[in-house]
Amino acid sequence: MDIAGWLSSLGLGKYSRTFAKNEITPEVLPHLSDADLKALGLPMGPRKLVLAAIAELGKRSMEDPATAARIEPIPGSGPPPRPEAERRQLTVMFVDLVGSTALSSQLDPEEMGEVIRKYQHAVTGEIRRLNGHVAKYMGDGVLAYFGWPRAHEDEAERAVRAGLAIAAAVAELATPAKVPLGARVGIATGLVVVGDLIGEGAAQEEAVVGATPNLAARLQALAQVGNVVVAGTTRLLLGELFELVDLGTHDLKGFAQPVRAWLVMGESRAEGRFEALHGMRLTSLVGRDEEIALLLDRWRQAKDGRDQVVLLSGEPGIGKSRIAIALRDHLRREKSLSLRYDGSPYHINSALFPVLDQLRRAAGFEREDAPEVKLAKLEALLPAAEPHPKSPIPLIAEYLSIPTGDRYPVPEVAPEQKRAKTFQALLAQLEGLAAKQPVLMTAEDAHWFDPTSLELFDRIVDRIERLPVLLVVTFRPEFAPRWTGRPHVTLLTLSHLQLNESAALIDHLTGGRPLPGEVQAHILAKTEGIPLFVEELTKAVLESGLLRAAGERYELAGPLPPLAIPSTLQDSLLARLDRLSRLRKWRKSALLSAARSVTNCSPRPRRWTSRRSGPLWTNLFTQNWHFAAASLRTRSTPSSMRWFGMPPTSRY
Ligand SMILES: Nc1ncnc2c1ncn2[C@@H]1O[C@H](COP(=O)(O)OP(=O)(O)O)[C@@H](O)[C@H]1O
Ligand SMILES: [Mg+2]
Repeated sequence: MDIAGWLSSLGLGKYSRTFAKNEITPEVLPHLSDADLKALGLPMGPRKLVLAAIAELGKRSMEDPATAARIEPIPGSGPPPRPEAERRQLTVMFVDLVGSTALSSQLDPEEMGEVIRKYQHAVTGEIRRLNGHVAKYMGDGVLAYFGWPRAHEDEAERAVRAGLAIAAAVAELATPAKVPLGARVGIATGLVVVGDLIGEGAAQEEAVVGATPNLAARLQALAQVGNVVVAGTTRLLLGELFELVDLGTHDLKGFAQPVRAWLVMGESRAEGRFEALHGMRLTSLVGRDEEIALLLDRWRQAKDGRDQVVLLSGEPGIGKSRIAIALRDHLRREKSLSLRYDGSPYHINSALFPVLDQLRRAAGFEREDAPEVKLAKLEALLPAAEPHPKSPIPLIAEYLSIPTGDRYPVPEVAPEQKRAKTFQALLAQLEGLAAKQPVLMTAEDAHWFDPTSLELFDRIVDRIERLPVLLVVTFRPEFAPRWTGRPHVTLLTLSHLQLNESAALIDHLTGGRPLPGEVQAHILAKTEGIPLFVEELTKAVLESGLLRAAGERYELAGPLPPLAIPSTLQDSLLARLDRLSRLRKWRKSALLSAARSVTNCSPRPRRWTSRRSGPLWTNLFTQNWHFAAASLRTRSTPSSMRWFGMPPTSRY
């Protein structure tokens, strides 16, 4: 596409030089905003014309793959990113409204405008709810980013949740013409260059260059109405969190290789988040002997009515869930009951979410169960001591959104009373269970518990002081546990793995085949005793084709190049970094230069013994900051992003 010709066709030929001077290529066009054009010096009229023409281009490309988008992937030879540009992993979502053409023929422009506004409102609301960033409206298409400007550790999951919610919300939208509306959603994850690519100033921040937006747009075009389609890269990050259907491979314009696409059916019924993300592929436990011994000791004490609460704190990926699994495995050998309460980052404000989720699993609800069946299952689970009208069943049914029909009168109690009665019923159920056998309760990721659940756990912590129940609560260091300082509460802070433990973990992953010494040293140095990172980086090395098996060992197949960050790790590293930069924005540049200067002296992993570990930020500053900063925020050309390539002079 010839930009000068295109501008001339709009009667705006005189701006060709401005566009050329600012290296506005066809790939850049879809990313231009009104503010961008203003910065280029275009007055209001021409700006409107250009934006309308860009929207038209985008629309044509989405409707008709043949005239396809000019959002081509940028090969290495594209316009050089400016030094401020940042390379990072992004999950990109494209949403398109289906049915708008039919609708526009039936509605007058004002009504149509109202429909589009409602649609955009619905889409934007869901994207923002999941902390995504609405980058652009293109006709009735919406482009959104998950992972920029701020990263979270689960961007792919956030995007898919937003996609499902959008599909549902748009299908519900009413139109004056009664024409059903629907959305199609495409999602892809990949490395992009994002940031201050063109022009200057904050207005230009939103440019994203790379194949990923293009892929998301193509996948969106593949989707049926109401469907969410994801790329293989996104699918990898989703683990078993969602039910997915393989749509096979497709030849997509702009992609040399056929691309596999997946249709998202809905949330899966995994036992817990850990299982969903890790599947059954558990590496055997290394180290943690002291922690397990302490937990088993507390279990024995708890059965005798003492020391019933253990608070297990540690940063993401340090192994909190893994330890909880190990404990549950130990207790399988004896008479006991295990109850699990998992916090979810998507339900921090949903009253009693972890508790209701546990009840749903314990009652054995199936997706297709009719309300009466669910109600019967709930009654079997919670045999109410009190008959109607005092029974707590209708209250809990209400929390679970199960209609009780004629079976119970509609509960008419004040919210305060409702909660108190519900708590009473749940505590009574726990007492009943504990009378039959000792109970292990694991409350995982309490930093994501909603306030009502936390209140219930206040009561549980009180109540179990005289019950044979061990409650293990896991959480990240930023959560201030409210149950410390009580005689029956123990606080345990998880330390980083020691070098030999990380090495043992690597060994498990390689099936006992030693890695070349320099590769092993790199992994140990860069992962700093965080098991999640050890696992991901080792797997990335094994899958990279960098090594070949030579008898009992692995050897390098060639010189050791700088390795990319495994995509499964990118989100968590970026999330750390973004949290940090939010906290210390004003010190960022100073830290960056400090970070650069310390990359040559690699960290000495330290044993953070129980209870001695500093708060998260201490760890970040002393241990991980330069790791993340030097690796991800390298503010230079992408090729210099060599987090794995330690300078030869570095000491370990
Ligand atoms: N001691 C350990 N031995 C082996 N693997 C571990 C160990 N601790 C953690 N892992 C693995 O590291 C990853 C992250 O651990 P996880 O328990 O999910 O961390 P957290 O719950 O603290 O975020 C998981 O794949 C887990 O199996
Ligand atoms: Mg966990």
